[in-house]
Amino acid sequence: MHVLSVSSLKGGVGKTTVALGLASAAFSQGLRTLVVDLDPQCDATTGLGAIGEFGETVADVLQNPRHSVVHRSIVSSTWTKLHPGVIDVMVGSPKTQTLDSPSPTIQEIWRLEIALAKVEREYDLVIIDTPPSVNGLTRTAWVASDRVIIVTEPSLFSVVAADRTTHALEELRKGLTPRLETLGILINRFRPQSSEGDFRVTELREKYGNRILPQVIEERTVLQQAQGAGRPIHGWPGESATEISQTFDRILEFIQKSLGQKTPSRVGRNSRKVMRLNRVLRGQTLDEVLKDEAAEAAETAVQNILGLNQEKN
Ligand SMILES: Nc1ncnc2c1ncn2[C@@H]1O[C@H](COP(=O)(O)OP(=O)(O)OP(=O)(O)O)[C@@H](O)[C@H]1O
Ligand SMILES: [Mg+2]
Repeated sequence: MHVLSVSSLKGGVGKTTVALGLASAAFSQGLRTLVVDLDPQCDATTGLGAIGEFGETVADVLQNPRHSVVHRSIVSSTWTKLHPGVIDVMVGSPKTQTLDSPSPTIQEIWRLEIALAKVEREYDLVIIDTPPSVNGLTRTAWVASDRVIIVTEPSLFSVVAADRTTHALEELRKGLTPRLETLGILINRFRPQSSEGDFRVTELREKYGNRILPQVIEERTVLQQAQGAGRPIHGWPGESATEISQTFDRILEFIQKSLGQKTPSRVGRNSRKVMRLNRVLRGQTLDEVLKDEAAEAAETAVQNILGLNQEKN
């Protein structure tokens, strides 16, 4: 099982659209796919046709990642009416809002990882739709992820902001979870007709190189139509839907290449590391721990410099 987070700094740039587009590509390829809806607005849950009252949701999982709770929070998407396969959603809840702490504890930050370890054998790909911030929930998602895509609009300002997000991510990777990698920045709502748009993407590629994904997603109304109807873009009629589906296929291919064949096991499965960390760091916030890590790194650097100086003398 591989886990991918779809994030952004800002709201409304297309996280849910990208998460659902990739889920649609994975489903049409026959991958057993789970979408985790961490956004309190629950748009991904709706887009997957899971509408109604749910006994348990991702909010319960985050409070108590027990096997039974995890299983009850997952429902099948109505997309399976189109063709057989596995496409499930861990249903979202407005309650996750209250769990989105700006300074999460180390215990909180591991909970999704521990929960996903419980369904490790049931899915090939897990896609997490995160809220539009880099608070506790997004970082909980990142800790559980192998890769993160940062979605942004095609403007310099947005890409600069997205690049800042990749720094927050890098900090988390160094401090807690070396398995995590940024896949890159994905430009959404690109308008090929506008020469200004073309220019900007070229400019962005010059500035950010391979930190920008090779594929861009165009502005297409079919995406809104499919999402509104609770249908996968791969099952939507028309040429425009086919073209945009192919873009998502290529992005999924790019993700799969980056992930390679190796499937890392969830930390939660051999959770001794998590337990040790929890024992040592109980009650500390993630920021405190990362600060400690940073302080340690700085101290090592200072010592190295001192060591070099001594050699010189
Ligand atoms: N490439 C696109 N072409 C056309 N419409 C798009 C595209 N990407 C996103 N949209 C539309 O823009 C709106 C916002 O997109 P979306 O909900 O995916 O953003 P989001 O980042 O998940 O927002 P939020 O932060 O509120 O969760 C939606 O109505 C969606 O259908
Ligand atoms: Mg969204």
